[in-house]
Amino acid sequence: MDRTATATGTAFVYTIGCQMNELDSELALGALSDSGITAVSRPADADVLLVNTCSVREKAEEKAYSWLGRMKALKRSNPDLIIGVLGCMAQKEGKLIFRRAPYVDIVAGTAHFTRIDDYVRQVRATGKRVLAIGRDEEVQTEKRLKARETPQSSYVAVMRGCDHHCTYCVVPNTRGAEQSRELEEIVEECRILVGEGTQEITLLGQNIDSYGKRLRPRRRTLAELLYAVADVPGLKRLRFVTSHPSDLKPELFQAFRDLPNLMPYLHFPAQSGSDEVLKRMRRGYTHARYMELVAAAREAVPEIGLAGDTIVGFCGETEEDFERTLELHEKTRYQASYIFMYSERDYTPAKDQGLKDDVPLEVKKRRINKLMQLQREWSLAENQRKIGKVYEVFGEGPSRKDSRKQEGRNPQHQVVLAESGRDLSGQFYKVEITSATDAALYGKLV
Ligand code: SAH
Ligand code: SF4
Ligand code: F3S
Repeated sequence: MDRTATATGTAFVYTIGCQMNELDSELALGALSDSGITAVSRPADADVLLVNTCSVREKAEEKAYSWLGRMKALKRSNPDLIIGVLGCMAQKEGKLIFRRAPYVDIVAGTAHFTRIDDYVRQVRATGKRVLAIGRDEEVQTEKRLKARETPQSSYVAVMRGCDHHCTYCVVPNTRGAEQSRELEEIVEECRILVGEGTQEITLLGQNIDSYGKRLRPRRRTLAELLYAVADVPGLKRLRFVTSHPSDLKPELFQAFRDLPNLMPYLHFPAQSGSDEVLKRMRRGYTHARYMELVAAAREAVPEIGLAGDTIVGFCGETEEDFERTLELHEKTRYQASYIFMYSERDYTPAKDQGLKDDVPLEVKKRRINKLMQLQREWSLAENQRKIGKVYEVFGEGPSRKDSRKQEGRNPQHQVVLAESGRDLSGQFYKVEITSATDAALYGKLV
């Protein structure tokens, strides 16, 4: 298709799922805007309606279908409306989506979403549906785009896909094998973003610690990449997610000490505290090894903020297994923790190998509630220890709940609220902490 051909109209995208999806939605809108279709903020104003989907838990897929169900009415009143499904569920379900939601026009998977402008033209020209989920090409997402909106804080994908086979996880199926981008290309993208006004960059990878392991002629490491990106003139804050305990290399901790703009934050999912469960999940480390890494991180970077992901109720999880998970949380004292009930997925090793999803829903619920409640208490206690400290905060503007307060993030990526009559978004300012909840810090400008 001729990419210079222009289209007209407006587009809206609803994003479900992780940060990679948020970035991909931005890239898809970028592709549309390059060809003359502008973004709008309400579905009712759009000629092209997109949903960028997630498959990681059943609930995420239900969310996409129920949104599609609501959009059906708009299509009835505007037959020219084009509805497209992007992302992980598009990749995984393919044409099944047309069967369940016959009013959908485009299904484009995780390697195709930036061609969305071509697909829209195709539907307009032929009136036929488009299905694009082949694995025939590499994800050349970023390269195709001239420009994208440049907020004060930007995501940059450094790799896509995942070579692990955690038995519960569908990501290796939906996003394919790991592919790292060239280091120079990433640095160049960061340079452009900073030149256009970005002050904070978060590097994204499903399993970012293995960045560069297959690049040729020379393999690269995450540490090398961090040193190179941190060097981009004008970049104030650099972050990266997500780390895997069996790929994290302790040399990384040196980078935190050497690079003043690398923020002390590590998203470091343990998933479980039971060695038996970790083995069934095929995570490649033990409870003890995980705690060793946490201790090493804290020794090297005492102020580091740790965030974790935990699954409760995985196949065969006993009460004792769960106790070990509680213990791991109690010892780690996460600053933030994302806790999920196991949701069995098709196309995962667990399902394929017949591991039984045998923990009853009531038990999963009891365990998640107990862990969440304890975690809230631990987070509150940790946050209260921060009262009296002064943090440099990167402003995000007025708080949605209370417009007299300005919201922002400290280096550890915690939400910090402080009273001010001015809009401080995009500014750096200092806040002395005066009180805390389990989820946020409150203070006064200094
Ligand atoms: N490394 C990936 C992980 C993606 S999934 C990334 O950062 O994108 C995010 C989290 O969802 C995982 O860490 C895990 O805790 C949880 N998860 C994955 N599969 C799940 C499943 N089948 N049921 C419940 N939670 C799951
Ligand atoms: Fe969802 Fe995982 Fe895909 Fe992200 S990588 S969109 S969380 S399934
Ligand atoms: Fe999923 Fe495990 Fe990879 S959580 S993304 S299979 S590291």
